[in-house]
Formats: sequence, C-alpha cells, structure tokens
Amino acid sequence: MKTYTSNPYIEENKQRFLDELFDLLRIPSVSAKSEHVGDVRKTAEFVKEKFLEAGVDHAELCETSLHPIVYAEKILDESLPTVLVYGHYDVQPPEPLELWHSPPFEPVIKDEKIYARGACDDKGQMYMHIKAFEAMIKTDGLPCNVKFMIEGEEEIGSDNLDKFVIANKEKLKADVIIISDTGIIDNNTPSMTVGLRGMSYMEVEVTGPNRDLHSGHYGGAVVNPINALCEMIASLKDENNHITIPGFYDKVQVLPEEERTELNKAPFNLDDYKNEIGIQEVAGEKGFTTIERTGIRPALDVNGIWGGYTGEGAKTVLPSKAHAKISMRLVPDQDSQEISDLFKKHFESIAPKTVSVNVIAHHGGEPAVLSTSSKGYQAAASAFEEGWGKSPIPTRDGGSIPIVSLFKKELGLESVMLGFGLDSDAIHSPNEHYGLFNFLKGIETIILFYKHYTKS
Ligand code: BES
Ligand code: MN
Ligand code: MN
Repeated sequence: MKTYTSNPYIEENKQRFLDELFDLLRIPSVSAKSEHVGDVRKTAEFVKEKFLEAGVDHAELCETSLHPIVYAEKILDESLPTVLVYGHYDVQPPEPLELWHSPPFEPVIKDEKIYARGACDDKGQMYMHIKAFEAMIKTDGLPCNVKFMIEGEEEIGSDNLDKFVIANKEKLKADVIIISDTGIIDNNTPSMTVGLRGMSYMEVEVTGPNRDLHSGHYGGAVVNPINALCEMIASLKDENNHITIPGFYDKVQVLPEEERTELNKAPFNLDDYKNEIGIQEVAGEKGFTTIERTGIRPALDVNGIWGGYTGEGAKTVLPSKAHAKISMRLVPDQDSQEISDLFKKHFESIAPKTVSVNVIAHHGGEPAVLSTSSKGYQAAASAFEEGWGKSPIPTRDGGSIPIVSLFKKELGLESVMLGFGLDSDAIHSPNEHYGLFNFLKGIETIILFYKHYTKS
C-alpha cells in the first residue's frame, strides 16, 4: 500500500484499520428496512466493541424506540476541554442492486478506493474518528476529553436522536461538536461545510376510481390518478423554476451581494460537474448559479413515484391510485414544520375534483449555518493547514444533517464539519466508494484537529 499520511501510527496500522472497516461495511445496517433491524443492532454492537478496544473508559448502547445509539467516552480530567463526536452507522438502502459492480456489502478496493454501501456515508467517515482516537491513546497523544455519539437513524431522520439529545444534556456536555459526514471540493482543495440545508419530506397519494379499471373500457373518460399526479407535480414549479407553493419563499434569507460573490469564488467547473454526472445542461432557479442553487436556495424534488403496472411485459390498466415521495430542501430561515403545512395545504388545493389526495409529512429538519470564526472551525482550519498545506475553503452544502441545528438549539454548541468525502463518491447511489487517501488522511487531520483545538 502507498504512503498516504505523515503519521507513523496510521502508516503502521493502516492495513488493520482497513480490515476492521471492511468488517463494519459487511453488516447491512439499512435503517429504513425492518428486515435489517437485527443487522443494525449488530452494527451498533460492533461499533461499541471497537470503542472499547480503542481504549474508551466506557461504551454503551442507548436504547431508543428503534435503533440504538452508541455512546462512548474517555474522560481524562474534568478541567480539560471536551470534544463531542457525532456520526452515524446506519446506511441508505443499496438498491438498485443490478447497478453495483460488486455487491454493496462485500467491500473491495479498486483504484485506491473502497467500494461498499456506507464506505463514505458514514461508516468510513465515522470510523476515522475511532481510529484517530485509538492512535492518540496508543501514542499518549490524547489532549482532552472525548465523548462519542454514533446513531443508527440518521438516514431516516434522526427522530430518536432528537429525543436522546434533549433528554441527556448533562451527559453530552461538551465544548465543541465535530462531525465527519460531509465532503471537500477535491483532494487538492480542502474545504469545510458551513451551511447545510433543512428538509421537509412528504408523501402523497392520489386516488381516482375505487378500483383498477380496464384502460380501454374506461380510458379517456375517467381521470387517471397517475396523470393527475404528474400534472400536479409539474405545476409545483413555474417557467423560472420557482416553487409555486404560496408562502414558500416568505422566510428565505436573501444573502448580501458580497456573500454571494464570496461563495461563487470557490473553485467550480461547470463542465466537470456536468460530465461527472453525465448531463448536457444544468437547470434551476433563474438568477442563481449552480453553487447558489444547492447552497443558499431551496429546492423541491420527487424522490420516487409509483402506481399502476410496472412489472414485466404490458398490462392495460387505469390504476386506482398513484403515489409520490417529495422532498423539499430548505434554507435559513425556513421552518420545516411550516413548509410541510404549506405544502399539504397547497397540494390539496390543486387536486382536480376528479381525484382525492392524501398528503402526509415524513421527517423534517432545520437548515444550519456555521461560523468560520468559532474556535472549532479555526482549529480545523489549522489542522488542514498543517496536514494539507492549504486553508480550507468554507462551502455551503446542499445536503442535510438536521441534528446540527438541534445541537445548536439544545446544547448551545456549534458543530465543526470536518468531512472528507468527494461529490464523486456516489453516496446514496450504486457503487458508493471512499478513497484510501481520504480515509487515512482524514484520520491524520482529525488528530491534528485535537492538537490545534487544545493548543491555548
Ligand atoms: N451525510 C449526508 C448529508 C450530506 C451529504 C451533507 C453530502 C452534505 C454533503 C447524510 O447522511 C444524509 O444523507 N442526510 C439526509 C438527510 C436526512 C434527513 C435523511 C439527506 O441529506 O438526504
Ligand atoms: Mn451521512
Ligand atoms: Mn446519507
């Protein structure tokens, strides 16, 4: 294996680190699927064992109404600062399986990258923290107290973690939160996420006739709920790609011109962006750049749509029902509950009389903006300067980690987003992967974060 870091402990132990990560990646901890509850628990047990092996004082599974939270800590001295590490051990469903080049839960290394579901999001990134901790313990380099909170429901909305945080403020008392669950611009351009979007996740059901009908016998005379659903969805955006839900933009913060200019200075190549995902053109809200469209503006997307016959061959049917899952990404100061309510009201109001609609809200979460002047951000910036020879560029990310705003609200703590993924890592997609460089250099950088954070 190549040399990836200048940390001797990491270099000496990297094969074992990878073997352990591979064992972790082999357990299919898909939080969304009830058939995997046992696997999710097994993963939590595995993570707890690894904390104990790495040298924590104490590790436990905290039970919730669904998947357990792994909590571990090492308290050196109450008078020292305390770092709280958050991560998640659950993963997204791996489907569609036929598009994977190797099975999602049988990790392999190809071209210096680890391929598996969760390799980057977030098992690989979370595991960097356990190995960074181990390295500091084994080399007598841990400079402060550490608490770890690793959850198993991030990919389904963190509902139980919200409750856990609110109920355990004393246990979680810390000076800073550090999270590796985001990315960098590229391996030569370190960056740190300072903005995350919030989320309102909805499901809609449109019902037409009381049963599936023969599409010839009835077609043309009875409204097809799939057609109706498509028209309703299409009407949610206008010709400028503005979302048409009344009141949707009321609380959207307009960024001052200087901040927009600053944001757009980040290295970004539109051709590379298009090529990497195989599209000819981008499109989005009129008047904003691609960076702005994902970073500071809200979005609305259909995540899944179904109904009628989708099996092999052709079946003529005018279905009784149509369904869709629709997410809205939110920016400050939108409120997920308010937006879910606005969506529901609007969607019900645009339904033609020929169908009925049922709208339900799934999980929601609030957007977050982090300061670059916090002690934590500055320590992470110094860690990049020392380890990478470059200052990180602050970026606003389109993804969501709703717990970040909850940490701020409930614990009064600012999170530091010290993530090492790449846009090309294909998180949530087939062939998710994570670079060996990112994994090992990430461990090194985390160790440097502790050093700079505790340097007075
Ligand atoms: N790690 C991601 C969030 C992320 C990805 C942030 C890339 C920034 C860059 C996280 O695991 C995730 O997927 N979150 C969900 C949110 C949720 C409420 C299910 C998301 O963004 O879809
Ligand atoms: Mn994640
Ligand atoms: Mn994710």
